[in-house]
Amino acid sequence: MQLCATLTVLGLLVMGSWEQGLMPTIGIDLPPCDSPEAEEVALVAQDFLNAQHTHGYKYVLNQIDKIKIVSRPLQADTYHLELDFLETTCHVLDPTPVALCPVRQKIYTAVEADCDFVLSNTTQGLSVVAFKCKTETEFEDECLGCPQLLPFNDTDGLALIENSLDYFNKNNTHNTKFALLEIGRMGSQIVSGGPKYFAEYAIIGTNCTSQDDDTCTPQNHTVAIHGLCLAAGSTNVDCKIFGPAQAVDPASNTTVRVQQLLHAHTFGPQHNPTIHDLKHHKLTALHDPSSTGLLSAESLESAEIVVAPKVSPIVKREVAPEVPAPAADLTVSDKAPLLIAPICPGKKKHF
Ligand SMILES: *[C@@H]1O[C@H](CO)[C@@H](O)[C@H](O)[C@H]1NC(C)=O
Ligand SMILES: *[C@@H]1O[C@H](CO)[C@@H](O)[C@H](O)[C@H]1NC(C)=O
Ligand SMILES: *[C@@H]1O[C@H](CO)[C@@H](O)[C@H](O)[C@H]1NC(C)=O
Ligand SMILES: *[C@@H]1O[C@H](CO)[C@@H](O)[C@H](O)[C@H]1NC(C)=O
Ligand SMILES: *[C@@H]1O[C@H](CO)[C@@H](O)[C@H](O)[C@H]1NC(C)=O
Ligand SMILES: *[C@@H]1O[C@H](CO)[C@@H](O)[C@H](O)[C@H]1NC(C)=O
Repeated sequence: MQLCATLTVLGLLVMGSWEQGLMPTIGIDLPPCDSPEAEEVALVAQDFLNAQHTHGYKYVLNQIDKIKIVSRPLQADTYHLELDFLETTCHVLDPTPVALCPVRQKIYTAVEADCDFVLSNTTQGLSVVAFKCKTETEFEDECLGCPQLLPFNDTDGLALIENSLDYFNKNNTHNTKFALLEIGRMGSQIVSGGPKYFAEYAIIGTNCTSQDDDTCTPQNHTVAIHGLCLAAGSTNVDCKIFGPAQAVDPASNTTVRVQQLLHAHTFGPQHNPTIHDLKHHKLTALHDPSSTGLLSAESLESAEIVVAPKVSPIVKREVAPEVPAPAADLTVSDKAPLLIAPICPGKKKHF
């Protein structure tokens, strides 16, 4: 389906180049998906995405599917990208730069996100105008003995979280009692002797020390310490603690903006079902603060039809006439014969 659409658009572009000069007002450029330019824009999108979402895990760029640069006279160029992301094991509050975060492997029910981004290249630099994402897990239901995700309200999973946090609270070197901030994931695995449960959850420091037996209230986010715990048993819990929310990402040398998080609970009265699937965290489905409508299907299509390429050589590069493409270079799907050279999509960085 998607391939069909790509070819149609390309067809229009090629026709456009034949009729060059008719409508020279909108230029379109299709740089290779693995070009440094595409990479630069995609990484800006990645950082924005991770600074934007306030729950769950950081996402890392896996593949650039498409990139298109649209230029109009007297306006900033806009970049339209289709990007694939993979979930890492770093919580969004973890200040570790995403480039250093391990990618969650497929066997642990990796979460993938397909996102469309529109960025604008103004004199101030690149900025995200709008994006939308579709988040999915790869279910491996057929695999006996593989870890399976459980819904966030699973009684045994919740008991594991409660007991392991209790244990950690009595026994941590920070002399602090932590409260549950959100559940990252819960799962079980059938091993000899029955199901074995595991859980990942984020915690936040409270005003109680380990000894206090008082009402404990979470600290203000801006000053609280946070952590991410991995529990595989009520006395088998490992929590990585990180400092207050404000963090500097050395890779991009920008202060990562971390927003108020308490609305992002995965349970309780503040639970927001639109951002949480039953078993994993979803990304923002549509972010378009200035209502550009740039990501709606209709406007994209109508934009394509009026497009006439600014620089025809670039369009020509996209077309590999009749010559069968060398298989070794092809990272694209083998489902259909391809007319386009393997300039897009780009290489998969992970899997
Ligand atoms: C953005 O525009 C500037 C100046 O017009 C240009 O030098 C730069 O390469 C553009 N950025 C990207 C990522 O293409
Ligand atoms: C968990 O939530 C689902 C959907 O809301 C519901 O059908 C199910 O009964 C709940 N399970 C428990 C143990 O609360
Ligand atoms: C704290 O942990 C140590 C070993 O890690 C263990 O021996 C001890 O029983 C724990 N204390 C409590 C109160 O759980
Ligand atoms: C923590 O804050 C709550 C609410 O302000 C208060 O009731 C409680 O006594 C405090 N606990 C400690 C140990 O200070
Ligand atoms: C948390 O701290 C910030 C900055 O110090 C402050 O602006 C905000 O009002 C505080 N929030 C609460 C609930 O105390
Ligand atoms: C990082 O940002 C600071 C403050 O904006 C700036 O002074 C410094 O030169 C930047 N460092 C690099 C390597 O870009």
